[in-house]
Amino acid sequence: MFKLQALVYVSSAVTMLLPEQVEYLLTRARNRNAQYGVTGVLLYIGGNFMQYIEGPSTELAVIYDIIKNDPGHTGLIELMHCDIEQRDFCDWAMAYCTKERNVSVSQYNNKSILEDKLGFSTSDQTSSRTLLRNFWVRNSA
Ligand SMILES: Cc1cc2nc3c(=O)[nH]c(=O)nc-3n(C[C@H](O)[C@H](O)[C@H](O)COP(=O)(O)O)c2cc1C
Repeated sequence: MFKLQALVYVSSAVTMLLPEQVEYLLTRARNRNAQYGVTGVLLYIGGNFMQYIEGPSTELAVIYDIIKNDPGHTGLIELMHCDIEQRDFCDWAMAYCTKERNVSVSQYNNKSILEDKLGFSTSDQTSSRTLLRNFWVRNSA
């Protein structure tokens, strides 16, 4: 039986991302994550990222290495890395939520999943959900 793991990190974009750069990043990320059975969510606010990824530990490690080696961001700090019982984002090869006001990116903006999937209003708060919620609530674009 494979082991399911999840991790959360924060990092900063090297340059403020243009909408088409976000689109490109998400397309590449979603394709590869789908191939590796990795799911999660990427938050982007004011030049800073927080990403939550989950999946079988071996595949998760492959994706995480690719992410860590991407020169498009810097100052990566891992905040959480642990075994999990079940996925929080099973439907999402990579959900994306931003507060940037941008028409072209808004079609990729899955803000509503923050309420649904993260259960902001429920008392069932895992540490990853708490990290994501705090990043989202306390940062403004
Ligand atoms: C903040 C951030 C999050 C990323 N998340 C993922 C991800 O979840 N999965 C993935 O495969 N790539 C992710 N990437 C993109 C990869 O780093 C990128 O695809 C990689 O650099 C390889 O580029 P290529 O797809 O052109 O080969 C992320 C990049 C950044 C900056």
